[in-house]
Amino acid sequence: MPETLTVTDNRTGKTIEVPISDGTIPAMGFRQLKSSADDFGLMVYDPAFTNTASCRSAITFIDGDVGILEYRGYPIEELAEKSTYLETAFLIIYGHLPNAAELAEWTHNITYHTFVHENIRKFMDGFRYDAHPMGMLISTVAALSTFYPDAANVDDARSREIQTVRLIAKMPTLAAFAYRQLHGLPLVYPDNDLSYPANFTSMLWKMSEAKYAANPVLERAIDILFILHADHEQNCSANAMRAVGSSRPDPFSATAAAAAALYGPLHGGANEAVLRMLMSIGDKKNVPAFVKSVKSGEGGRLMGFGHRVYKNYDPRAKIIKRTADQVFEITGRNPLLDIALELERIALEDDYFIQRKLYPNVDFYSGIIYQALGFPVEMFPVLFAIPRTAGWVAQWREMIVDSEQKIARPRQVYTGDRKKSYVPIGKR
Ligand code: CMC
Repeated sequence: MPETLTVTDNRTGKTIEVPISDGTIPAMGFRQLKSSADDFGLMVYDPAFTNTASCRSAITFIDGDVGILEYRGYPIEELAEKSTYLETAFLIIYGHLPNAAELAEWTHNITYHTFVHENIRKFMDGFRYDAHPMGMLISTVAALSTFYPDAANVDDARSREIQTVRLIAKMPTLAAFAYRQLHGLPLVYPDNDLSYPANFTSMLWKMSEAKYAANPVLERAIDILFILHADHEQNCSANAMRAVGSSRPDPFSATAAAAAALYGPLHGGANEAVLRMLMSIGDKKNVPAFVKSVKSGEGGRLMGFGHRVYKNYDPRAKIIKRTADQVFEITGRNPLLDIALELERIALEDDYFIQRKLYPNVDFYSGIIYQALGFPVEMFPVLFAIPRTAGWVAQWREMIVDSEQKIARPRQVYTGDRKKSYVPIGKR
C-alpha cells in the first residue's frame, strides 16, 4: 500500500501526490497547487494548531483517547510511584533513566546551583506588596538572562548544559522568594543538605528554627505533584518555549515566555480557577444548580474539566486524587474536596459532559492539595511552573538541535483592506 496521498485541485484539475509519514502529510506539499500562475499556492488553515504537528519529539507520549501519558516511554503511574522529580527531570531531558553515578552528579549539580544573585532580592523588593507571584516568577526568570550572558550561546552544547542545570535549580528559589515576598516574610536561602522538594518547603516555610524539618509525607506529595507536571508534549507553554526559542534567544528569556503562557486560566492558571470556582459554589447542595448554569453557558466553564488531548480521564488526575488522601491525613481534610467529588460525580453522569468527552484534568484536584498544604491560590500556577521547567528545557533542547526546525513563523489569511491611499487628517 503506497504511503501517499493523492489530491486533485478541482479549480485546475491538477493532481499531486504527497508523502504520508508517521501519519502526517507535509503542509508544504500543497504549495504547488495554484489557481493561477501568480497564485502563492495552497496553504493549510489551522487556527490554534488543532490538527497540526509542529515538530518531531521523542519526549512525551500521550494517547488522549485512552488516557495514557508516558515520559520517554515510561508510564506516568510508575514514575509517580517509584521515581523522584529530579530523576524524572533527568529522564525527560536526557532520554534515559540515570544510573547511580549519573543521578548523583545530576543531583549534586542541581543542588549547588540553587542560589541566585543577591540583586534578585532587590528585584523582589521592587514589586508592589500584593504582586502576583507568577508575575514575580516570570520577571525574575527573565532577569536571570542578564546575569548569565553566556546563556546566549544556544548553539554551544556546554552552555546548554549549564543553563539547563541553572534553570531547574533556581526556579524553586525564585518561586519561594515570590511566596515570601507575598507574605512580607524574610527570604530564606536554599539549604543544600536537603532534597529538591524538602529544600523548597524550607525556603517557603522556615521561620526561626536553625534547620527546617520537612514532613516526609508532604515532601513526597510535592515531589509526586512535580513528577506529574514535568512535561506534557506540545501544550501552550511548551509551544511558546519552542516558538520563542526558535529565534534563538537565551533559554531564560524563552522560559519567561513559556511561564507567561502557563499563567493563563485555560492552561496552568486553571487550578487557581478551579479553587475559586469551588469556593464560589460553597456547598455540595449547590452543585446541581452550578452544573446547570455551566450547561446553559451562564456559569462559565466547569474549570478543571476538559482537555484538548485527553478525551478520557486524565491519568494525572487519578494519581493526584490518591495523593490527596495521604496529604489530608496530615493536614486535615479540605472541605472543598466534597464539593469537587460531587461535581465530578454529577458531571460524569451528565449527557452534556459525556457527549463532549469532558473529564477531570490534572488541575481539578491539584488545587485542593495545594490549598491543604497552605498555599494561597496565587501560588498554584507557580507550583506548576517549577516542575514544568524540566519539560520546557527538554523541548527547547530538542528544538535547538532539530535540523528540520527553523524560526517559527506561521502564515496568515489576510482579511483586511488593500491598496488604500493615505488621506490627510483634515479630509477624514
Ligand atoms: N466546561 C464546560 N464545557 C466545556 C468545557 C468545560 N470545562 N471544556 C470544553 N467545553 C465544551 C465547549 O463549550 C465546547 O462545546 P460546544 O461543542 O457545544 O461548543 C466543547 O466542549 C469543546 O470545547 P473546546 O473549547 O473546543 O475544546 P478545546 O480543546 O479548545 O479546549 C480546554 C480545551 C482545556 C481549553 C477546555 O476544555 C477548557 O476550557 N477547560 C477548562 C479549563 C481547564 O481546566 N484547563 C486546564 C487544562 S489541563 C492543564 C493544562 O493544560 O494546563
